[in-house]
Amino acid sequence: MDAAEFRRRGREMVDYVADYLENIEQRPVYPDLEPGYLRSLIPSEAPLEPESYEDVMKDVERVIMPGITHWHSPYFFAYFPAASSYPAMLADMLCGAIGCIGFSWAASPACTELETVMLDWLGKMLQLPECFIAGTDGHGGGVIQGTASEATLISLLAAQRYKSLKEQHSYLCRPNRLQHCGPTTCSLWVFSLMLPVLLPKAHSSVERAALIGGVMMRKVPTDKTYAVGGHMLKQMVEEDKAAGFIPFYFCATLGTTPSCAFDHTTELGPICNDENMWMHIDAAYAGSAFICPEFRPLLNGIEFADSFNFNPHKWLLVNFDCSAMWVKKRTDIIGAFKMEPLYLKHENQESALTTVLFASSWVLQHWQIPLGRRFRSLKLWFVFRMYGLKGLQAHIRKQVALAKEFESLVRADKRFEICAEVIMGLVCFRLKGSNELNQNLLKKITKSQEIHLVPCQLSGRFVLRFAICARTTESRHIQQAWRHITQLTFELLQEPSH
Ligand SMILES: Cc1ncc(COP(=O)(O)O)c(C=O)c1O
Repeated sequence: MDAAEFRRRGREMVDYVADYLENIEQRPVYPDLEPGYLRSLIPSEAPLEPESYEDVMKDVERVIMPGITHWHSPYFFAYFPAASSYPAMLADMLCGAIGCIGFSWAASPACTELETVMLDWLGKMLQLPECFIAGTDGHGGGVIQGTASEATLISLLAAQRYKSLKEQHSYLCRPNRLQHCGPTTCSLWVFSLMLPVLLPKAHSSVERAALIGGVMMRKVPTDKTYAVGGHMLKQMVEEDKAAGFIPFYFCATLGTTPSCAFDHTTELGPICNDENMWMHIDAAYAGSAFICPEFRPLLNGIEFADSFNFNPHKWLLVNFDCSAMWVKKRTDIIGAFKMEPLYLKHENQESALTTVLFASSWVLQHWQIPLGRRFRSLKLWFVFRMYGLKGLQAHIRKQVALAKEFESLVRADKRFEICAEVIMGLVCFRLKGSNELNQNLLKKITKSQEIHLVPCQLSGRFVLRFAICARTTESRHIQQAWRHITQLTFELLQEPSH
């Protein structure tokens, strides 16, 4: 493909994408396929000779589209949203064209510099405490990770390597422990004895981070709103210390995955600080809402945190992947992961002018697991400028209002109950009755392919989650979804077994 053909195909692709998104609600939101459907539709080996673009595009409709769950259909209400907007898609095209691998300032100065400035812009939109903003002389700062899971893992590893290393070592060297342990001989031992603490409704990514980090974990019980409060954490920390463990890391969640509950960070933060535990706050979904002053109080307590993360790629109209992470002291994180082979050094690295921006702290590859990094901040820049803070706030508010609309429809039907407070764009509801009844209702919903939901478990009960996801979801889609649910409920209740 030469540039002339690329221009032509590019225009066609933009039309294809716009048509796809404009007409997406005509497609069944959820595919009706058996696992393994695709293998039989395409050859078992890559082609030897080049094929035409037309043939490839024909197969997009024949092979790919039937196997797509349409996340951007206004009838998609599953999981949490995957953000999408035209400005972000255009920025991603440009990112692909520039195609730089921005691991260091020299590898593409704009890539590093725009990212640091965008994370400051975003941090200010959220009114993060000054200590998280890099500015030109701050000690904190932000970075774009691929996912919230990576942010959690990075923070856990940083906490493990840095924050508590001294205490662990002195602890192990106490009488009756490991008498002759030197820092280089016992590191594995040290880590295996440490105990991060997390909450039962925490996302599985937190559990996985602990598994990868090779540390032990315990889950903190939640209150009746499915949130963790200070006294529960305090009690567990005391128990763990009495049992000879060293709690060193706690992950609070603002907007839990099952029910969008908010841990009480103003109570949890001081405990973590007193115990010298690293507090990470995971607000993967709900974090976007903190750009609205009315939701910002839910972020109170952030001042106690060592790191904070949320996904603009969930709810801030920035296409996947873009997970924003801030740390209070960037040396904690960089110190844990810094590697500087000669081929990554550049002449501006040590210059006096570059002490803050270009010094090793801003070699963003030190802040993450991979070496390579895409120019993801372009997406933020395009979206922030083309929506403005007001446009983004309007998007959040509209989706919360749609969730409230759905909530009132559920509340008005005495056969149903709401299972958790509706604070953001998620409604947890169920038919009054057995788990089996609700499982059967969900099966019918999924089979219908008209709307898509997923379940969760709250206090042992099978609950349906209705999350407002697509940017284009309107009131008429909510009303239609509810009509559909009540129709399927009617059919279900007619069945002899019920
Ligand atoms: C609270 C919470 N944390 C973490 C995650 C994982 O996000 P990611 O896919 O970016 O790792 C999710 C996903 O929905 C989530 O809801």
